[in-house]
Amino acid sequence: MSVGTVLITGGTGYIGSFTTLALLDHGYKVVIVDSLYNSSKVSLDRIELLCGKRPDFYQVDITDEAALDKVFAAHPNIDSVIHFAALKAVGESSEIPLEYYRVNVGGTITLLRCMSKYNVPNIVFSSSATVYGDASQHPGMIPIPEHCPIGPTNPYGRTKSTIELVITDHINAQRNNLKKAGKPYEHWNGALLRYFNPAGSHPSGIMGEDPLGVPFNLLPLLGQVATGQREKLLVFGDDYPSKDGTAIRDYIHVVDLAKGHLAALNHLREKNPGVRAWNLGSGRGSTVFEMINAFSKVVGRPLPYEVVERRAGDVLDLTANPSRANTELGWKTELTLEDACEDLWRWVSNNPQGYRQDPPKELVEAAKAAAKKSA
Ligand code: UD1
Repeated sequence: MSVGTVLITGGTGYIGSFTTLALLDHGYKVVIVDSLYNSSKVSLDRIELLCGKRPDFYQVDITDEAALDKVFAAHPNIDSVIHFAALKAVGESSEIPLEYYRVNVGGTITLLRCMSKYNVPNIVFSSSATVYGDASQHPGMIPIPEHCPIGPTNPYGRTKSTIELVITDHINAQRNNLKKAGKPYEHWNGALLRYFNPAGSHPSGIMGEDPLGVPFNLLPLLGQVATGQREKLLVFGDDYPSKDGTAIRDYIHVVDLAKGHLAALNHLREKNPGVRAWNLGSGRGSTVFEMINAFSKVVGRPLPYEVVERRAGDVLDLTANPSRANTELGWKTELTLEDACEDLWRWVSNNPQGYRQDPPKELVEAAKAAAKKSA
């Protein structure tokens, strides 16, 4: 029996596909809308292989209100939305900021309008720790709690903090308007999930991140160095005031991150908290050199790197204080960055072309057997 039906925007992307899998595994029905701008429909096949269930899928751009409206109309049971669909390249966001505001902020407004029209009251939003900007400027704010001042350092981050405000204003207005009219209002809720640095792949080795074009993030780049697709990693600065001079991040396994969405969704539906922000991180900070060492260990040889200038907009330390999510959502990370490195290596070494190739047969057979056993 389905415990509920959830619309997932951007559900074929990296974090969206893992969250879809977590929800299907826990009895939810999932309807995905995705433009496939930076993702592949093949992820749907992998989800089905791993859990024996397939989400409904619509190729729809969230800025297209008429198309989105039709999806809501076709699925009257949807009672919650998990919203990932967005542009996310930090560098590009400084070159074409209007496009970032149009898609990320405009797309969210379109989505909220449809949710109001079809009476869909819960939204879980894919925000980012990037909304905090340089938290090390504020005394006592590392590890970062949710009350740390918001101050993103690039247009991408500003779209995320703006969307947080739009969702907060809208959900609060819905609640207030219903309350004034003497009607039940507490079922309108929003979760603002501020992710730290998502990493890793599915332990089966058949599902992972498949960025189209050149990746920007540290671990996918390290993966390409390990497979020989890239000569060396460029380390962006070793003159930060950290123990080895490189910048500190809180790497969180994507399987844990997906479970964080499930925990937040259940919390909204059961506890009706209104709008609330939660950090999803491990609380453990690691430097770039520590990550190179951890991944080299898994690969079995030292990976080449070269230290270059700092990258514009990078900050010293983004480490989460995850205690609010730990206590309120009953969620904490269970996997380590070493697990993330191992799983990532299994994924990239077996699927160097990502979703543009078939995975090795023995991995598919093992995944099928595991799915059968847990069904
Ligand atoms: C970046 C974005 C952030 C976004 C997040 C998830 C920036 C400034 N921030 O976070 O807004 O939410 O991705 O997509 O882009 N590094 C290297 N060499 C590389 C790549 C990275 O040394 O080739 C270092 C970076 O300087 C950083 C760490 O590795 O210290 C992690 O970088 P990255 O994976 O790009 O994530 P963030 O910059 O933390």
